[in-house]
Amino acid sequence: MTAALKVGIAGLGTVGAALIAQVARQREALAARCGRAIEIVAVCARAKGKDRGVDLKKMKWFADPVALARAGDIDVFVELIGGAGDPAKGAIEAALASGKSVVTANKALLAKHGVKLAALAEKHHVALNFEAAVGGAIPIVKTLREGLAGNSFERIYGILNGTCNCILTQMEQDKMPFAECLKEAQRLGYAEADPSFDIEGHDTAQKLAILASLAFGTKADQSAIYVEGISSITPADLLAAEELGYRVKLLGVAVKTDKGIEQRVHPTMVRKDSAIAQVMGVTNAVTVDAAGINPLTLIGPGAGGAATASAVLSDIGDIARGVRTSPFGRPSALLKNVRKAPMQRHEGGYYIRLLARDKPGTAATIATRLAEQEISLESIVQRHPAHVDTDAKAGSVPVILITYATTEDAVRKALAAVGRDRVISGTPQVIRIEKN
Ligand code: HSE
Repeated sequence: MTAALKVGIAGLGTVGAALIAQVARQREALAARCGRAIEIVAVCARAKGKDRGVDLKKMKWFADPVALARAGDIDVFVELIGGAGDPAKGAIEAALASGKSVVTANKALLAKHGVKLAALAEKHHVALNFEAAVGGAIPIVKTLREGLAGNSFERIYGILNGTCNCILTQMEQDKMPFAECLKEAQRLGYAEADPSFDIEGHDTAQKLAILASLAFGTKADQSAIYVEGISSITPADLLAAEELGYRVKLLGVAVKTDKGIEQRVHPTMVRKDSAIAQVMGVTNAVTVDAAGINPLTLIGPGAGGAATASAVLSDIGDIARGVRTSPFGRPSALLKNVRKAPMQRHEGGYYIRLLARDKPGTAATIATRLAEQEISLESIVQRHPAHVDTDAKAGSVPVILITYATTEDAVRKALAAVGRDRVISGTPQVIRIEKN
């Protein structure tokens, strides 16, 4: 049998500990499937004495991840430190430059420096694998890079942040406001240390940048993504969506348009009977529209020690078997620059919730302003203020509009005109509808 694959792990949080436990549990199956044993021979973390619930006695201890990355007695460097800069970046560069394959779960680093790291891996003929960076245990990276390598992609969209999906689920099911549901998600330990990273959509954007690169050959670039978070969503929106046959999800969407690849993250109305609308709680899902097979949806646990370790271990298994592909599915020199989508040109249906003055002529004024922008309405619903939990003031009624496909520019112009007409109070709520 071929010699064992020797692995060094930098970062011993919940994922690192789960990985060590899974390698021990799966020892024989892994050796059989990969044709060689997988041995964790070295680890690196900040606190040496801490009890992590796993046996580290036989592993060499490193205090410096770069020293571990360069160590002569490892074949694979597993980076579980996180963060877009050093020490994770420096350690990965050191490993690749010294001819070691790298496995990482670091979405932030890949969304910023992925192209350069891929080029370095190619130069040294080693692997840079990152299944765990997107969607936890869902094998979406391999699905796009290998399983669907012969397909032409039209659109990829997904629920890529468990914290946001958990918050939206609780807001819908328990009719609780956003702030309370966020507190609950933090209490359960789902949210990132800085929850704004989750709720403002940046975590989703980093993951989307990676998926878009794999599907469309763009350079992974978080700054090219339009991002809007979920903090403005209210239980009233979720109730109205439900009544109109939709659910609201924070989606990352990458879509081929005649103007290029549009990448965006925002709260999105999806049809209640679609696969993605069924995904509740912290679960993640990705739907792939590719010619001839659309839609194909993968659903599963998107975060947590065991789910992430599962993805890391499958990447290590590929290296043990000698499987190596270009990190983003094609040589990094072929990856294309991508521009940020000008959202005013975005085309699609819209949900609009207005607090309208309860006076004769208000509906006619709103309809006129929409007609001026050639916006056609699919439905218009006026609710008694008590029907939904809104911030309605006395004399105001919630009016909910669903438009047919139009442009964002037209919607913004129509709403600005309605605002000038003084027939509404507060800021209109606007949610894009994704056809699915
Ligand atoms: N904060 C992330 C989430 C963790 O909620 O999905 C996984 O990337």
